[in-house]
Amino acid sequence: MTKLLVNKYNVAGPRYTSYPTVPYWDDNTFSIAKWKTSLQKSFNESNDNEGISLYIHLPFCESLCTFCGCNKRITTRHEVESPYIKYVLKEWQLYVQELGHTPYIKELHLGGGTPTFFSPKNLERLINGIFSIAEKAENYEFSFEGHPNNTTKAHLETLYNLGFRRVSFGVQDYNETVQKAIHRIQPFENVKRVTEEAREIGYSSISHDIIFGLPFQTEEHVAETIKKTKQLMPDRIAFYSYAHVPWIKGNGQRGFKDTDLPSAESKRKQYELGKEQLDACGYVEIGMDHFALKTDSLYLATETKNLHRNFMGYTASKTQIMVGLGVSAISDSWYGFAQNEKKIEDYYKRLDANEIPVFRGHILNAEDLIIRRHILNLMCHFETSWSLNTNYFKELPDVLIQLKELEKDGLIQINTHAITVTENGRPYVRNVCMAFDLLLQRKKPEAQLFSMTI
Ligand SMILES: C[S@@+](CC[C@H](N)C(=O)[O-])C[C@H]1O[C@@H](n2cnc3c(N)ncnc32)[C@H](O)[C@@H]1O
Ligand code: SF4
Repeated sequence: MTKLLVNKYNVAGPRYTSYPTVPYWDDNTFSIAKWKTSLQKSFNESNDNEGISLYIHLPFCESLCTFCGCNKRITTRHEVESPYIKYVLKEWQLYVQELGHTPYIKELHLGGGTPTFFSPKNLERLINGIFSIAEKAENYEFSFEGHPNNTTKAHLETLYNLGFRRVSFGVQDYNETVQKAIHRIQPFENVKRVTEEAREIGYSSISHDIIFGLPFQTEEHVAETIKKTKQLMPDRIAFYSYAHVPWIKGNGQRGFKDTDLPSAESKRKQYELGKEQLDACGYVEIGMDHFALKTDSLYLATETKNLHRNFMGYTASKTQIMVGLGVSAISDSWYGFAQNEKKIEDYYKRLDANEIPVFRGHILNAEDLIIRRHILNLMCHFETSWSLNTNYFKELPDVLIQLKELEKDGLIQINTHAITVTENGRPYVRNVCMAFDLLLQRKKPEAQLFSMTI
């Protein structure tokens, strides 16, 4: 990959966990009544076999990592756990009433914040509360995010007994200078302990999050982090590009200076070196940011073209509905998106009034649904086609004109009814999606809303 290409295509762009992307949601045409109708329509179309996905956002963390872009609340007061669970269960009850039929849960993910901030007992109460009014679908997959510094054996055992088989641990980077800059001191021994304990207990998929492009991070640091990771051989690795989004207020990202960050070119070199090393250890790149061993379900899903992407990232199976519970969580009915209140106090207040605590959303129109399908195809399979009339849209010729430049640079191949992202083009898949993103094309943001693509 040349410096020229990096400079040419390193622009601010969405990560496409949804289409339309959140800044382009149209609040004017959204209402909670429309959201409920879209959910009901989707629920009636799906069957119990497919089931639904459930995402539960658990926002508390004991200590602030200064790179973090997640919605979290920093506290050491563990009294916050019980009321939070009570409100999440109340929200779930409102949704189940709305659906009017016992939901079958295919995928359940606990994200955060730090789910392992909660005690094992409280997590058990939460999961049992969810299933007091729901069923497990066939071949269900339950997963959670664990912080290596506070995930205990009791957490791992309790969640395993509740049906969890997948866990991801935040690693980021093992270098001390980088760890100090991001305010996250986390020795290798902690990650080794939780990884080995999870394996002994019987978890079938263990994942590590590694980031490149962090402050003071160099190629050597990335190489060293991957070398250490190789000693543990997690089944999956999320190899994220650091998303520098300092304009999100209160996330503490201003704990270091912009000049402490590696340049776009050296960030890209970190990615390439990391990818090369991961390839050499037997990991296969899956979609954007993700690598998996050939024995992992995510790899098998790419082989069978069942890979799906939603607000949780990549998943091995597709459900049409994802209900997001908890503060700031996003729900997706395929025909609509809805996001919960972002402040805990507002979230509680809405639930006290017996309201679904959604504060904004978007109902997809016919054009959105076609573009959504193309962007999902590109993000999951690195190709998309319009041979079916249903996938054609009138602006397609203009999109293809825009894509000519990427084709000239060898990043994509354009055929009569399809485009394919080449091996070299994979790091630029977001740039390809941006050509299809009609809302972005019609109205370029006036201020920077997204992180850089490289
Ligand atoms: C909710 S945290 C994981 C669980 C737990 N809180 C922890 O930190 O170990 C989710 C992951 O998002 C990733 N992440 C957070 N902020 C990011 C950013 N600004 N850019 C890229 N990745 C980020 C990190 O890799 C992190 O492990
Ligand atoms: S990286 Fe994890 S522990 Fe750190 S602030 Fe973000 S959510 Fe909390």
